[in-house]
Amino acid sequence: MIDLIVNGEAVRSDAAPETALLWVLREHLGLTGTKFGCGAGVCGACTVHVGGQPVFACLIPVGDLAGQEVTTIEGLSPEGDHPLQRAWVAEQVPQCGYCQSGQIMRAAALLAEAPDPSREEIRDFMSTNLCRCGTYNRIVKAVQRAAGEA
Ligand code: FES
Ligand code: FES
Repeated sequence: MIDLIVNGEAVRSDAAPETALLWVLREHLGLTGTKFGCGAGVCGACTVHVGGQPVFACLIPVGDLAGQEVTTIEGLSPEGDHPLQRAWVAEQVPQCGYCQSGQIMRAAALLAEAPDPSREEIRDFMSTNLCRCGTYNRIVKAVQRAAGEA
Protein backbone atom coordinates (compact mmCIF):
# COMPACT_ATOMS: atom_id res chain seq x y z
CA MET A 1 0.00 0.00 0.00
CA ILE A 2 1.22 3.46 -0.84
CA ASP A 3 -0.12 6.51 0.98
CA LEU A 4 -0.07 9.83 -0.82
CA ILE A 5 -2.05 13.04 -0.92
CA VAL A 6 -3.96 13.82 -4.08
CA ASN A 7 -5.64 17.19 -4.44
CA GLY A 8 -5.47 17.67 -0.70
CA GLU A 9 -7.00 14.33 0.22
CA ALA A 10 -5.24 11.32 1.71
CA VAL A 11 -5.23 8.41 -0.72
CA ARG A 12 -4.08 4.83 -0.24
CA SER A 13 -3.12 3.06 -3.45
CA ASP A 14 -2.84 -0.71 -3.75
CA ALA A 15 -1.27 -0.44 -7.20
CA ALA A 16 2.02 -2.18 -7.79
CA PRO A 17 4.82 0.24 -6.92
CA GLU A 18 6.06 0.36 -10.50
CA THR A 19 2.66 1.52 -11.79
CA ALA A 20 2.91 4.94 -13.39
CA LEU A 21 1.21 7.70 -11.41
CA LEU A 22 -0.81 8.48 -14.54
CA TRP A 23 -2.66 5.15 -14.33
CA VAL A 24 -3.29 5.45 -10.60
CA LEU A 25 -4.84 8.87 -11.21
CA ARG A 26 -6.92 7.85 -14.21
CA GLU A 27 -7.83 4.23 -13.54
CA HIS A 28 -7.89 3.97 -9.76
CA LEU A 29 -8.96 7.46 -8.70
CA GLY A 30 -11.06 8.44 -11.72
CA LEU A 31 -9.15 11.67 -12.26
CA THR A 32 -9.33 11.58 -16.02
CA GLY A 33 -8.40 15.22 -16.57
CA THR A 34 -4.79 14.06 -16.76
CA LYS A 35 -4.24 12.66 -20.24
CA PHE A 36 -2.18 9.87 -21.75
CA GLY A 37 -0.31 11.07 -24.81
CA CYS A 38 3.01 9.43 -25.53
CA GLY A 39 3.67 7.52 -22.32
CA ALA A 40 7.33 8.32 -22.77
CA GLY A 41 7.92 11.76 -21.32
CA VAL A 42 7.93 13.69 -24.56
CA CYS A 43 4.48 15.31 -24.95
CA GLY A 44 3.46 16.75 -21.57
CA ALA A 45 -0.20 15.71 -21.81
CA CYS A 46 0.14 13.96 -18.44
CA THR A 47 1.63 16.92 -16.54
CA VAL A 48 0.69 17.15 -12.87
CA HIS A 49 2.41 18.66 -9.85
CA VAL A 50 4.30 16.66 -7.24
CA GLY A 51 5.30 18.80 -4.31
CA GLY A 52 4.43 21.83 -6.45
CA GLN A 53 6.80 20.87 -9.26
CA PRO A 54 5.57 19.92 -12.74
CA VAL A 55 6.22 16.29 -13.62
CA PHE A 56 5.24 13.78 -16.28
CA ALA A 57 2.85 11.41 -14.54
CA CYS A 58 3.49 8.75 -17.19
CA LEU A 59 7.09 8.39 -16.03
CA ILE A 60 6.79 8.38 -12.24
CA PRO A 61 6.22 5.08 -10.42
CA VAL A 62 3.64 5.53 -7.72
CA GLY A 63 5.94 3.66 -5.36
CA ASP A 64 8.26 6.69 -5.41
CA LEU A 65 5.52 8.99 -4.11
CA ALA A 66 4.83 7.79 -0.59
CA GLY A 67 3.76 10.77 1.51
CA GLN A 68 4.03 13.20 -1.40
CA GLU A 69 1.47 15.79 -2.48
CA VAL A 70 0.09 15.39 -5.98
CA THR A 71 -2.06 18.03 -7.66
CA THR A 72 -3.99 17.40 -10.86
CA ILE A 73 -6.07 19.71 -13.00
CA GLU A 74 -9.09 18.74 -10.89
CA GLY A 75 -7.35 20.11 -7.81
CA LEU A 76 -5.89 23.28 -9.28
CA SER A 77 -8.76 25.36 -7.93
CA PRO A 78 -11.92 24.33 -6.09
CA GLU A 79 -14.29 25.90 -8.59
CA GLY A 80 -12.23 25.58 -11.74
CA ASP A 81 -11.62 29.33 -11.69
CA HIS A 82 -7.88 29.56 -11.26
CA PRO A 83 -6.61 32.70 -13.08
CA LEU A 84 -5.14 30.44 -15.75
CA GLN A 85 -8.42 28.63 -16.27
CA ARG A 86 -10.24 31.95 -16.61
CA ALA A 87 -7.58 33.19 -19.02
CA TRP A 88 -7.81 29.97 -21.04
CA VAL A 89 -11.50 30.61 -21.52
CA ALA A 90 -11.05 34.31 -22.29
CA GLU A 91 -8.39 33.59 -24.93
CA GLN A 92 -10.30 30.57 -26.26
CA VAL A 93 -7.11 28.53 -26.15
CA PRO A 94 -8.25 24.93 -26.71
CA GLN A 95 -8.98 23.30 -30.03
CA CYS A 96 -9.40 19.56 -29.52
CA GLY A 97 -8.46 20.13 -25.88
CA TYR A 98 -6.49 16.96 -25.38
CA CYS A 99 -3.22 18.60 -24.34
CA GLN A 100 -4.76 21.45 -22.41
CA SER A 101 -4.90 20.16 -18.85
CA GLY A 102 -1.20 19.42 -19.09
CA GLN A 103 -0.58 22.87 -20.55
CA ILE A 104 -2.44 24.57 -17.72
CA MET A 105 -0.63 22.55 -15.05
CA ARG A 106 2.71 23.41 -16.62
CA ALA A 107 1.73 27.09 -16.82
CA ALA A 108 0.60 27.06 -13.17
CA ALA A 109 4.02 25.83 -12.13
CA LEU A 110 5.61 28.65 -14.14
CA LEU A 111 3.49 31.37 -12.54
CA ALA A 112 4.20 29.97 -9.09
CA GLU A 113 7.92 30.50 -9.75
CA ALA A 114 7.77 33.58 -11.99
CA PRO A 115 4.61 35.65 -11.48
CA ASP A 116 5.38 37.98 -14.40
CA PRO A 117 7.21 35.94 -17.03
CA SER A 118 8.34 37.40 -20.34
CA ARG A 119 7.04 36.00 -23.62
CA GLU A 120 10.37 34.24 -24.10
CA GLU A 121 10.26 32.74 -20.60
CA ILE A 122 6.77 31.45 -21.24
CA ARG A 123 7.73 29.90 -24.57
CA ASP A 124 10.85 28.35 -23.09
CA PHE A 125 9.13 26.93 -20.01
CA MET A 126 6.16 25.63 -21.97
CA SER A 127 8.33 23.98 -24.63
CA THR A 128 8.03 20.62 -22.83
CA ASN A 129 4.33 20.48 -23.69
CA LEU A 130 3.27 19.73 -27.24
CA CYS A 131 0.00 20.70 -28.91
CA ARG A 132 -0.92 18.94 -32.13
CA CYS A 133 -3.51 21.63 -32.80
CA GLY A 134 -0.91 24.39 -32.65
CA THR A 135 -2.47 26.55 -29.95
CA TYR A 136 0.92 27.85 -28.87
CA ASN A 137 0.31 31.55 -29.50
CA ARG A 138 -2.93 31.52 -27.55
CA ILE A 139 -1.25 29.66 -24.70
CA VAL A 140 1.33 32.45 -24.42
CA LYS A 141 -1.42 35.10 -24.49
CA ALA A 142 -3.41 33.27 -21.82
CA VAL A 143 -0.42 32.92 -19.52
CA GLN A 144 0.29 36.64 -19.93
CA ARG A 145 -3.36 37.46 -19.19
CA ALA A 146 -3.35 35.27 -16.08
CA ALA A 147 -0.10 36.82 -14.90
CA GLY A 148 -1.68 40.25 -15.25
CA GLU A 149 -4.72 39.25 -13.22
CA ALA A 150 -3.01 37.26 -10.47
S1 FES B 1 1.96 11.05 -21.78
FE1 FES B 1 3.44 11.68 -20.33
S2 FES B 1 4.79 12.98 -21.42
FE2 FES B 1 3.43 12.19 -22.94
S1 FES C 1 -5.62 21.55 -28.33
FE1 FES C 1 -5.49 19.74 -29.53
S2 FES C 1 -3.57 18.88 -29.00
FE2 FES C 1 -3.57 20.81 -28.02
